[in-house]
Amino acid sequence: MKELSRADIIDILKDDSQNEALFSHADEVRKQYKGDEVHLRGLIEFSNICKCQCKYCGLRSPNKNIQRYRIQPDEIFKYAKSAVEQGYRTIVLQSGEDEFYTTNVMCKIIEKIKTLDVALTLSIGERPFEDYKAFKDVGADRYLIRIETTDKELYKKMHPNMSFENRVRCLRDLKALGYETGTGCLVGLPNQTIESLADDILFFKEIDADMVGIGPFIAHPETPLKDADNGNFTLALKVMALTRILLKDINIPATTAMETLNPQGRIIALQSGANVVMPNVTTTEYRAKYEIYPNKICINESPDKCRKCIEGKILSIGRTVAKDYGFRKI
Ligand code: 5AD
Ligand code: FES
Repeated sequence: MKELSRADIIDILKDDSQNEALFSHADEVRKQYKGDEVHLRGLIEFSNICKCQCKYCGLRSPNKNIQRYRIQPDEIFKYAKSAVEQGYRTIVLQSGEDEFYTTNVMCKIIEKIKTLDVALTLSIGERPFEDYKAFKDVGADRYLIRIETTDKELYKKMHPNMSFENRVRCLRDLKALGYETGTGCLVGLPNQTIESLADDILFFKEIDADMVGIGPFIAHPETPLKDADNGNFTLALKVMALTRILLKDINIPATTAMETLNPQGRIIALQSGANVVMPNVTTTEYRAKYEIYPNKICINESPDKCRKCIEGKILSIGRTVAKDYGFRKI
């Protein structure tokens, strides 16, 4: 089949009459290139302290109505260790942009977790090349940093004191350093156009993303976007399905935000192109506080409960849980 053009992508995004065919085609591409195994990544949200002011995000620094926390390195390691004991083969360390975790502090955490025979993904925001290099040198395997939107005007409005160019620089540095690099976008930001969503998908292809996470925007009451409409679940699913069709062999998570808008969201995503789930592996004391958006799922669940729950869901749709590290290319 001919590769989809920008115009084709726009047409598909605008026309809802063929959605089921789109989702099943994405599911077939997933099956052909990634098989039926679902990779579980154990997510540790280790600090909700953030210097940024992204308009949509509940962790933005001007939000005073949030209890901030920072998990110390020893405790991060403890969570990683029990996740590995539960069978996780990838640990994802995610936080706000928190300067407490200097290059050295991060390197020590990475080194220690890498003794556990596990793949390690970082998701800690924009850093200079030197930091990314230092993290790679001590064993970090992957890095996630969403571009959020490729509409430069919208990017500027959504991210005070940040620059689109620096975001792209981060992604290029990460690729050049040999990380498996993940990016992605929000779907349904105020004034976001369908055309720009098509450009987002083409951007993922252009930078050769190894992983792409796509989720609907969900309005947070303590942000400037509190009165905005939530993103649309189906549109987010379509952007994800098209990403699978264009990028074929990459890893795509069924995102938590999808499940916040639809109780079956992750299962539907797994049947529309996704092949990864990222369950939280911290305990309840932190979960509710990492409130990027409201009504996050699993905030009262234990690591063990989530693991069993998601495994049950995966098996119920005839899929299996992968036992390997789950790199893009085996
Ligand atoms: N709704 C949905 N997703 C959000 N994120 C941040 N704020 C929101 C929100 N209000 C996403 C961003 C970020 C990821 C960690 O969470 O895309 O990259
Ligand atoms: Fe947490 Fe289902 S994954 S309860």
